[in-house]
Amino acid sequence: MALRKIRTDNDPILRKISKPVNEITKNVKTLAGDMLDTMYEAEGIGLAAPQVGLLKRLIVIDVGDGPIVMINPEIIQQDGEQVNQEGCLSLPGKTGEVVRPFFVKAQALNLDEEIFTIEGEGLLARAICHEIDHLNGILFTDLVKNIIKE
Ligand code: NI
Repeated sequence: MALRKIRTDNDPILRKISKPVNEITKNVKTLAGDMLDTMYEAEGIGLAAPQVGLLKRLIVIDVGDGPIVMINPEIIQQDGEQVNQEGCLSLPGKTGEVVRPFFVKAQALNLDEEIFTIEGEGLLARAICHEIDHLNGILFTDLVKNIIKE
């Protein structure tokens, strides 16, 4: 377990498309653990691998109900709408209102290479959407109307 450096602001890696994880190796497991450590240390609720410099489709989330590791995550269902403040560990000092689906159902692999689905409302739905966006080079500021700089 170790902390990784979080890439910020105009780092070009944040704009690249991440590649699927083909095999859940020891390195992938170490990465997932490190990403959770890094996220907790930074007091975030989600982190995507490109934010620590690796273009892999791997995200971690904890909205207060325990850690979730999602490998090759895909949203398979979404419903409703919510508007709320959002921020990002890669964009320190920025927040803004983003429209997201209220409900999301997503599918991913876990660290044991098993497919699982997760359903989330509210903050969890928001976090899943935000982190999957990172895998596609999308930042929340692309979706926000008014960016608030602190
Ligand atoms: Ni983010």
